[in-house]
Amino acid sequence: MSAEERIVSADAEGPDEQAIEAALRPKRLDDFVGQNRVREQLSLVLRSALKRGRTPDHVLLSGGPGLGKTTLAMIIAAELGKPLRISSGPAIERAGDLAAVLSTLSEGEVLFLDEIHRLARPAEEMLYMAMEDFRVDVVVGKGPGATAIPLDIAPFTLVGATTRAGMLPGPLRDRFGFVAHMDFYEPAELEVIVKRSARLLGVKITEEGAAEVAGRSRGTPRIANRLLRRVRDYAEVRADGVITRELARDALALYEVDERGLDRLDRAVLESLLRKFGGGPVGLSTLAVSVGEEPETVEVVAEPFLVRQGLLARTPRGRIATPAAWAHLGLTPPPNAPLAGTLFDLDDGGDQGTMIK
Ligand SMILES: Nc1ncnc2c1ncn2[C@@H]1O[C@H](COP(=O)(O)OP(=O)(O)O)[C@@H](O)[C@H]1O
Ligand SMILES: [Mg+2]
Repeated sequence: MSAEERIVSADAEGPDEQAIEAALRPKRLDDFVGQNRVREQLSLVLRSALKRGRTPDHVLLSGGPGLGKTTLAMIIAAELGKPLRISSGPAIERAGDLAAVLSTLSEGEVLFLDEIHRLARPAEEMLYMAMEDFRVDVVVGKGPGATAIPLDIAPFTLVGATTRAGMLPGPLRDRFGFVAHMDFYEPAELEVIVKRSARLLGVKITEEGAAEVAGRSRGTPRIANRLLRRVRDYAEVRADGVITRELARDALALYEVDERGLDRLDRAVLESLLRKFGGGPVGLSTLAVSVGEEPETVEVVAEPFLVRQGLLARTPRGRIATPAAWAHLGLTPPPNAPLAGTLFDLDDGGDQGTMIK
């Protein structure tokens, strides 16, 4: 499964679940929990544009799946009081597809391009000019007789989203006036989200129950909402419907989410790294093959969280497990394991894992 499919499948739990996801989406910036800096900066960008009566700068949202990129794009349109057009990099196969979208935008419309790093090259080049000059060159004909017909388009705001900011070409990145990087959420923020969603879903949950669900949500709102629904199912069938800490623990154990929030894929990656590769270093693609996943899925979905948790480190020689990883899976590191016997401790949830160069 590719990262995109996984992102989609996270939502694709049937029409009911999709409707629930939509119902849980915050509609305005004030309802958007967490990401305080991004929220404040974005609020300034939008308000000053409104004040000047101009379309705001193009916005790039980068961050892992389920952190709220699509939600923010919808909020941007709502705050501006403008319509939102939704498309994605993979959906636009040719420059002509993009020209068709761009030429039918209304003044001030917000165009959301999801997974923008997967835009085909010719479309990307067309987008440069559209972003900068609100103009596209539509090429008519082929070979020496081909002519480019310039076409004015209405001023619009592009909101691009990407799970892989590093894959975005420089010239495209530079054309965004505002780049927001969305990071994992703090447990306290996820707790607010869980309580808000519980209220909207009419689910009874105690403070401790909400904290338990939030703490196991991999720092990700989409996962928090999903776990909440699964725990609710459990509460309704096996108990009196109220989600307490005890009940949340039992339910999440059943769904194979451990107390640190690692899910099946996270644990598969970690187990393989420890058991098959002695803690590494091992290359990303080798590691991915060993768990039967696409490298991109392992890189975008599993690794950032494992790094954040101080369980895995990315080094130029490959991925390595930290001492905390061995401890988490209840294994004893062999004497020659990477980082064994060092004072190196990444177990504070910090981001230091990426600093080993
Ligand atoms: N900041 C937030 N506050 C509350 N709920 C959020 C927030 N961010 C995301 N969500 C919830 O998580 C779900 C996934 O968010 P989404 O915007 O689809 O993520 P992405 O597009 O980054 O994959 C949404 O349906 C929404 O209900
Ligand atoms: Mg999205």
